Amino acid sequence: MISVGYLQFNPEFMNIDYNLEKAGKIIESYKKNIDILVLPELFATGYFFPDRSLLETVAEEPTGRTYQFLSKIAKKRDMAIYFGFPEKSYNKIYNSAMIIKPDGSFYVYRKNHLFYKEKKLFDTANSPIEPVTVNIRGMDIRLGLMICFDWFFPEVARTLALKGSDIILHAANLVMPYCPAATITRALENRVFIVLADRIGEEKVGDEVLKFIGMSRIVSPKGKILKYSTDREEIKSVYIDINEARDKSLNLLNNIFTDRREDLYFK
Ligand code: ACM
Repeated sequence: MISVGYLQFNPEFMNIDYNLEKAGKIIESYKKNIDILVLPELFATGYFFPDRSLLETVAEEPTGRTYQFLSKIAKKRDMAIYFGFPEKSYNKIYNSAMIIKPDGSFYVYRKNHLFYKEKKLFDTANSPIEPVTVNIRGMDIRLGLMICFDWFFPEVARTLALKGSDIILHAANLVMPYCPAATITRALENRVFIVLADRIGEEKVGDEVLKFIGMSRIVSPKGKILKYSTDREEIKSVYIDINEARDKSLNLLNNIFTDRREDLYFK
């Protein structure tokens, strides 16, 4: 059994020091063991930037201060941490998320499906859609990585599952109401665990207010909600048996992967 968790968070816009310190305190004061922890998209900077020049002031290279801060916690607590950050790469900025492994090594995924005004702020990414393997307690666990709006494209979770993901880690800043309910379907049809870490709070640009819906959750491969939140800042975790995600049989006669009719599907 391994333990997976999320931090549902309410960042203060552009106040990185404050946000890191607050997130760090919540994680450090959580007494239960967590092997894999998921934080929201852009959790240390906030989300709704009026323009790219302001976003540029907080964008970081992968080994920047957010990594420096969280990798210490990952090593100390012997956990993997997945979190969103604005990634600076030469003159590009990506809406990215990083998985830090317990030994401090890391992998960066860049959001492939940009939502709404992100299209004016971030560069288009072409990240591979494939799981990252992390060794937890001597077991190789395959983690599929998604950032927020990626969920709207079922091909993403499908591809991650067909390529062997056990758990989909979903770092989000949800503003539409649909995703939390859809996690049940995505988990069920792909027979994977899903850990959705969303944020709460509001951000405003001019007259436009974005309200983030919270409702983070952990869902089992059979579509059971194992943990959930509503609209509070909090950390939650649960022990899971990864073998539940590796058996794709539905009953004695159906297997949701080998029963697929690829010959009939649209390509
Ligand atoms: C979103 O992709 N942040 C809605």
